[in-house]
Amino acid sequence: MTTAIYPGSFDPVTVGHLDIIKRAAKLFDRVIVAVLVNMEKKPWFTIKERTDFLQKATEGMGNVEITSFDGLLVDFASQQGAQAIVKGLRAVSDFEYEFQMALTNRKLDDAIETVFLTSSAENMYLSSSIVKQVGLFGGDIAPFVPPCIKEDIMARCRQFPKRVMGAK
Ligand code: PNS
Repeated sequence: MTTAIYPGSFDPVTVGHLDIIKRAAKLFDRVIVAVLVNMEKKPWFTIKERTDFLQKATEGMGNVEITSFDGLLVDFASQQGAQAIVKGLRAVSDFEYEFQMALTNRKLDDAIETVFLTSSAENMYLSSSIVKQVGLFGGDIAPFVPPCIKEDIMARCRQFPKRVMGAK
């Protein structure tokens, strides 16, 4: 049985992430989508909120599981008996960071391979930050997120006063 971990901040999950999950689910017997801590980011949503969003968005996908972990990715992967870490690559700008992480993870545990799936062309530009920025200023986030979580995200966007972003 092949198991892959798809790790990320997922703050929040976008249609771009969902596309990678669906495609990974065709390649591996079991895909574990794991919300992990990225020390460089300040998340808007709690880990519970992010896993709940992922749960809703992946409902009915038989071989996809959602969870969270607050340690090293390779430790989680080995704990789960995973052979691979799946990452989505959008553009050249992602490459340096992803390459650094893949090499670090291989140094930490060379039994686990990082597999990159290229983003679909229509999602090349998309990120969780874009979703938050569009939502914060009242734009329509419908093209960017799974429909089942759109309202929850907009509710959070409406809680932020505009001056948080430097507006007078
Ligand atoms: O969606 P992101 O923010 O690009 O995901 C990055 C994430 C969470 C996968 C990465 O920061 C991570 O693996 N965090 C767990 C700690 C870890 O193992 N770091 C890699 C070695 S430096």
